[in-house]
Amino acid sequence: MLIPVVLAGGSGTRLWPMSRASYPKQFLPITSARSMLLETLARIESVSAANPIIVCQEDHRFLVAEQLREADRSADILLEPAMRNTAPAIGLAALQAMSRDPNAVLLVLPADHAIANPEALMRAITPAREAAERGKLVTFGVTPTRAETGYGYIEIETGIKTGMAPSEPCGHDSAVPIQRFVEKPDAKTAQAYVESGRHLWNSGMFVMRADRYLEALGRQRPAMLEAVTAAWEGRQTDLDFLRVDADAFFACDAESIDYAVMENAADASVVALDAGWSDVGSWQSLWEISAKGADGNALRGDVIVDDVSGCLIHGESRLVAAVGVRDLMIIETPDAVMVAHRDAAQSVKHIAETLKRQE
Ligand code: GDD
Ligand code: MG
Repeated sequence: MLIPVVLAGGSGTRLWPMSRASYPKQFLPITSARSMLLETLARIESVSAANPIIVCQEDHRFLVAEQLREADRSADILLEPAMRNTAPAIGLAALQAMSRDPNAVLLVLPADHAIANPEALMRAITPAREAAERGKLVTFGVTPTRAETGYGYIEIETGIKTGMAPSEPCGHDSAVPIQRFVEKPDAKTAQAYVESGRHLWNSGMFVMRADRYLEALGRQRPAMLEAVTAAWEGRQTDLDFLRVDADAFFACDAESIDYAVMENAADASVVALDAGWSDVGSWQSLWEISAKGADGNALRGDVIVDDVSGCLIHGESRLVAAVGVRDLMIIETPDAVMVAHRDAAQSVKHIAETLKRQE
């Protein structure tokens, strides 16, 4: 059984002020009229009829339940009492999946990605699933277009890729071994990787047997597996929710799957993905994927511009007017307005962090 696992526990601070701690981006309609969570679930409807597992923060349980109800969908909702990053979250989901089917294969999807061509992802899932059934930990790799330091980089064998079109190196029809996985390299290393022609970005979507993931976690982070297992075994059902044991989960280290498992996995493979993938991580990435006029402006809501170019302007509750400015992000919401240069998109999270400290 292929069981979708949706990671919906992030905080989305780089999309402040639209994304808030109490209402993070995955629950907002950022890329379409539906929330990113519901977009994610809709995207994979055709590849698996199994009830998905959604892993999220306890604080957001009612948001998740309400959105599922509105869309008339059901899911196992696993609640984390605190953020411990993705390795423990996927561990909980793996245990939950195995309780339904000991041979379960997980399709792990972050709830906050945009995919322009979902059919290409559907096609890539077939070879990924075949490799996962052979015991591989499989990720989808995207041809890098810039030296992004916020992503993981996947090195594939010399010669497979050189001189070939981006979708050719691994093709949609095969998984190839990962030679090396490096999470969030520094800028110089990322630049060298992009130029090498042998590296792909890690999309952050994975396909793997639940038991293989738990084995790999136990080999590389035994204490984490122990804490996750204790948390899951101590779970309690509360209305529509599965609430894991808080004390056991608090004792777990926070670490992403990328550092905890993928960087040192012996049997990792990658399937190339050419599906218009984008991690909607910041206002800059939202500007990149938005429809823009010849002046490079992406305008959302009630907005008037004159002599403006390269701007993302979002008006939620008032008319927003801009004159004679370039490359800005102007985000208006009912209780906060943010103006920043597009180059500073990654620093927006500092504002959200400062506000959190002042709470
Ligand atoms: N349930 C749960 N619990 N979900 C979480 C938690 C948590 O503690 N922390 C993060 N998530 C969710 C986020 O909501 C997001 O959907 C996903 O897990 C990935 O977390 P990010 O924090 O966005 O990771 P990242 O963008 O820095 O890096 C990952 O994604 C990149 C591509 O977007 C890595 O996998 C990189 O290697 C990859 O390139
Ligand atoms: Mg991300």
